[in-house]
Amino acid sequence: MNLLVTGGAGYIGSHTCVLLLEAGHDVTVLDNLCNSSAIALDRVQQLAGKPLRFIEGDVRNRDDLDKAFAGGIDAVIHFAALKAVGESCAQPLDYFDNNIGGTIGLMQAMEQHGVDRLVFSSSATVYGQADTVPVKEDAPLRVTNPYGRTKLVMEQLIQDWCTARPSVSAVLLRYFNPVGAHPSGKIGENPRGEPNNLMPYVAQVAAGVRPFLRVFGNDYPTPDGTGIRDYLHVMDLAEAHAKALEYTVARTGCDVFNLGTGRGYSVLEMVAAFERASGRAVPCEIQPRRQGDIAELTADPSRARNVLGWEARYDLDAMCGDAWWWQSMESCDLVSPESQPGTMVTTLCRTAQARHPGEGGDPRPSGKPILNVDDQPSAVEKRLPPSRKCFTTAKPVNDVAEDRG
Ligand SMILES: NC(=O)c1ccc[n+]([C@@H]2O[C@H](COP(=O)([O-])OP(=O)(O)OC[C@H]3O[C@@H](n4cnc5c(N)ncnc54)[C@H](O)[C@@H]3O)[C@@H](O)[C@H]2O)c1
Repeated sequence: MNLLVTGGAGYIGSHTCVLLLEAGHDVTVLDNLCNSSAIALDRVQQLAGKPLRFIEGDVRNRDDLDKAFAGGIDAVIHFAALKAVGESCAQPLDYFDNNIGGTIGLMQAMEQHGVDRLVFSSSATVYGQADTVPVKEDAPLRVTNPYGRTKLVMEQLIQDWCTARPSVSAVLLRYFNPVGAHPSGKIGENPRGEPNNLMPYVAQVAAGVRPFLRVFGNDYPTPDGTGIRDYLHVMDLAEAHAKALEYTVARTGCDVFNLGTGRGYSVLEMVAAFERASGRAVPCEIQPRRQGDIAELTADPSRARNVLGWEARYDLDAMCGDAWWWQSMESCDLVSPESQPGTMVTTLCRTAQARHPGEGGDPRPSGKPILNVDDQPSAVEKRLPPSRKCFTTAKPVNDVAEDRG
């Protein structure tokens, strides 16, 4: 198929593009690079061994859309959006304009160019504070922040469009918590500034980029008191898009699917898994609960399994192992020629390369992550004695929840 992937240079989009190219599709990416880099697309093409067409442009710009649709497009995967909850609270109009405005413009262009198939990136954030877990697709939708509202409104607009145009086939995919990276370490999540999500934060603490992880609340009604979420490997998520695409070919109307593993992990379980995968300490600071955070949110993914034939395959160790390999490779890329041997970053690179001989291929020959053996203590470990690895602070925190869905 000829596919248009909006936001294809971003975290989830880039991984999906690799799989789509490998599956033999022709891919056009439309991305304004507001939260990504064209380097990711170079790497996508290297990994897939196949070129794609890149249009640097905005989904709100009609000329850019017309360029993207020129030559014929069979289906669209729509990732392009702003996604930071905190930022959406501070700048709601930017979020409405970019996310909702962009989606309306995209649907208008699809209509004009006679394209009827759409796969849409939604989020578990539309469930807000779910009454029961695991959450099914028919659970009440109640968003708690402007970002979530944009996702809900976009879902509703797409549903209305499908009702008005019986030839349209749309799939709304509600992601839970995508983590990990391509097993090659060439592409992964690269947040600008302070990460909003848990895993990149943990990875940066393990790498010594940040001194410790703030854990918001250890008094939730969960086994270890910290919040539980449903994490899934980004490669599993990418695979789900390929399945959703097939599904749009076979039917019309609008359908919705949860994408998660169905298994929840607490913050402290994630930290422990990451320490195993990286061989590095991840010091934690316990802080008060954040307003709007909930104890537990996990998916019931059975509908995706039964209808799309999709099921998550990567386990927690693979999620952490691949995220760590990416973090390590990313740090290598950041080493400047002036870096002195023995600095934290170069030490990290050496460790990662030793752990992943034959760099560039899958570092997990058996599909399993390569676990740590004998890493040197990181700069952080040296600074923080083991007894202080997890500590608490009374400092009040008023942040709202990030996009955990
Ligand atoms: N990562 C998550 O935790 C998560 C969870 C649930 C849902 N989602 C949704 O999945 C989608 C992809 O998320 P991601 O994590 O890959 O984010 P990302 O920021 O890495 O990717 C989004 C991409 O869209 C581009 N973009 C944004 N606005 C654009 C515009 N107006 N025109 C053209 N390009 C634009 C950005 O430059 C970026 O490359 C988003 O819609 C997000 O809301 C993400």
